[in-house]
Amino acid sequence: MQVQENFSLKKLNTFGIAVNVKYFATFNTVDEINELLEFNKQQTLVLGGGSNILFTKNFDGLILKNEIKGIKIIKEDEHYVYVQSGAGENWHQFVLYCIHNNFAGVENLSLIPGNVGASPMQNIGAYGVELKEVFYALEAFHLTEKKIHQFTLNDCEFGYRESIFKKKFKNEFAIINVIFRLSKIPHFNTSYGAIEQELEKMGVEELSIKAISDAVINIRTSKLPDPSQIGNAGSFFKNPEVTHSIFDILYSKFPGIVGYNLPSGNVKLAAGWLIEQCGFKGYRKGDAGCHEKQALVLVNYGKANGDEIFNLSEIIIASVKEKFGVVLEREVNII
Ligand code: FAD
Ligand code: EPU
Repeated sequence: MQVQENFSLKKLNTFGIAVNVKYFATFNTVDEINELLEFNKQQTLVLGGGSNILFTKNFDGLILKNEIKGIKIIKEDEHYVYVQSGAGENWHQFVLYCIHNNFAGVENLSLIPGNVGASPMQNIGAYGVELKEVFYALEAFHLTEKKIHQFTLNDCEFGYRESIFKKKFKNEFAIINVIFRLSKIPHFNTSYGAIEQELEKMGVEELSIKAISDAVINIRTSKLPDPSQIGNAGSFFKNPEVTHSIFDILYSKFPGIVGYNLPSGNVKLAAGWLIEQCGFKGYRKGDAGCHEKQALVLVNYGKANGDEIFNLSEIIIASVKEKFGVVLEREVNII
């Protein structure tokens, strides 16, 4: 455990933004967090894989990278197995562990970058499944009380790309482990149209969690930029929700508009479509841009700084508001 000073974060955020942090350290245990917090009384940020964060300036405090490892089964019954994972495990490696052991529930969430510890932060979701569907409990260390707290499903107040850790308890806790409730008998979820099409293309005759995972991986790699090639943090904005009557008005003006009915009666709009219609798909100014295959993903072609990406997001928000009257909300954590 070593504290490094004036440390570059360029390789620790998938946007590849070149900023420095005053103090940086990694931790493998709760005792180590405790020791590190003694060292620094300034602002502290817990970092995972850096795949949902945009640094707009140097960080004048302490960044602690969570490297708590270990995956173990803690209990099981006829239908479920309860698996605990250290927060510092890579998310996709955890998914592969589940698939290998025939534990169902996370296959649709294959290939999401980042670590297990951040997965409850924004209730990660993809291809018809959200983390909350397999979440059982977590343990988190309160950074100022210096105590471990337990959180159940209800405590986390999960919503679409939301949790209590992004709102009321923002920056208060370090999540140290997460317990998942996985199914011994799979309930395949192919509700997201593109999965069915991909399975057919792959020639899959017998459905399995591995086949779904492979289909999701194929779809994702075909349209999302690989952060090791082009800096990005996935969707930069959330898909906005509007009432059905607003959707009807928008639909009458823009018949191509893409929206999905929600159980609440509201409609979720595809932000990627709104942004594309404003002419930003493939747009580039300097090294900041909007991905050519997915307009919802802002990218750093190399040397963009955080402000340039942020300013582009401001321009996009203003443009979408002007054309559609809809206000986009950022999904990525801005620091
Ligand atoms: P980081 O970026 O390191 O952190 C994110 C936030 O969580 C920060 O505020 C940080 O302080 C906090 N944090 C991280 N770890 C902890 C911890 N242990 N304790 C307390 N706070 C913590 N997301 C989706 O939901 N669905 C997708 O389909 C998806 N696709 C993506 C595709 C690409 C190409 C990329 C680059 C990103 C994508 N994302 C997606 C976003 C991102 O992968 C997820 O949000 C992921 O869970 C972030 O994990 P991380 O470890 O990198 O978090
Ligand atoms: N679309 C366009 N133009 C674009 C992009 C999208 O018209 O440039 C339209 C298309 O009609 C497409 C629809 O939008 O069918 C939806 O696009 P896509 O399936 O790519 O999904 P998304 O709504 O853009 C969301 C999540 C992703 C997640 C995928 C798959 C959010 C903010 N994003 O994207 O999550 O992987 O669905 O479930 O909800 C992330 O959170 O970082 C992320 C990548």
